Amino acid sequence: MSLLVDGIGCLVTWEPDSPVRQNAALVIADGRVAWVGASSEAPAADERIDAGGGTVLPGFVDAHTHLVFGGDRAEEFEARLTGRPYTAGGIRTTVAATRATSSAELLARTRRLAVEALRSGTTTLEIKSGYGLAVDQERRCLEVAREITPHCTFLGAHVVPDGISPATYVDEVRGPMLDAVADIATAVDAFCEEGAFDADQCRAVLSAGAARGMRLHIHANQLRPGPGVSVAAELGAASADHCTHLSDTDVTALRDADVVAVLVPAAEFSTRSAYAPARRLLDAGVTVALATDCNPGTSYTTSMPFVIALACREMGLSPLDAVRAATWGGARALRTTDVGHLSVGARGDLVVLDAPSYVHLAYRPGVNLVRAVVREGMVVSGG
Ligand code: NIG
Ligand code: FE
Repeated sequence: MSLLVDGIGCLVTWEPDSPVRQNAALVIADGRVAWVGASSEAPAADERIDAGGGTVLPGFVDAHTHLVFGGDRAEEFEARLTGRPYTAGGIRTTVAATRATSSAELLARTRRLAVEALRSGTTTLEIKSGYGLAVDQERRCLEVAREITPHCTFLGAHVVPDGISPATYVDEVRGPMLDAVADIATAVDAFCEEGAFDADQCRAVLSAGAARGMRLHIHANQLRPGPGVSVAAELGAASADHCTHLSDTDVTALRDADVVAVLVPAAEFSTRSAYAPARRLLDAGVTVALATDCNPGTSYTTSMPFVIALACREMGLSPLDAVRAATWGGARALRTTDVGHLSVGARGDLVVLDAPSYVHLAYRPGVNLVRAVVREGMVVSGG
């Protein structure tokens, strides 16, 4: 099976020699990009999409979501609009709602969100647990996640649940809970924040994951300055996520340890907080990714185009920087090499936009510009 996409006004591939091409075409064969070149020279294929002068980008790689949860927190959001600040404690509301939701319903809800994400161009999705917070419950959430994606992250260290001491809970997370999820989760995460876990507790959980060969992520420096980023650098984490409050030492540590800064501006939008210093990070040579952080507390959106628009308007990224962070950057955060770009050999995952350039993602916020989404050479949304 092969697919030709031609008539592309603007094609972003991230190939080193020509990252952005005009009047281009691309062929996907057996799920992989097989040819990239001028539209006038395109070879024939079994199927064809005429992009009609529109834009083609690598499918978005959303490297940070919490899609498995019950209930919502619309009331908490509404209260925030009249001045109540966000605190980590709200997570417990969702833990209770998640535990009260059947596995079938959790799967149906997560699927709905994943389809929503796909329709807005997300072709690779990471999903964290973290609303179960007990051995069987965390496993159940990850069983749901693995129906949707291979990129499943164990976030038992999200907050200490009611009725257990922090020390006992940390021991449970790094021992029996990790044992119970190790066949599903490829990564482990921890929320390093006042009201959640301190540096030593995060170290204990993350190093237990590292000992099992799991990739490391950490929710770091979200609500105030803190030790999260230095723990990430010290342990060789793949990413430090949020990174809202950073010292110069933090920025240097991220760069020197090759830790990707996964920025989630929709969380700052929804919690009415200051935005992460994306420009400063890029200028310092840190790899930046953009993600939705989709969750019911701080960021109930699956839309990478919305995140890109925010990053341009609020964080000083150029549209091209933002698209790179939402594709290539996300893939780096997941330490995958075959998505997030469209060089020959990459997975045939792409988005066709009804717009003459990627700039329109920021220029026309809130407008659905996604005409079609292709995954491994198959049209999975639009057409
Ligand atoms: O990434 N910061 C920790 N976890 C989520 C929020 C979870 C919640 O409030 O339910 C986040 O923002
Ligand atoms: Fe998060």
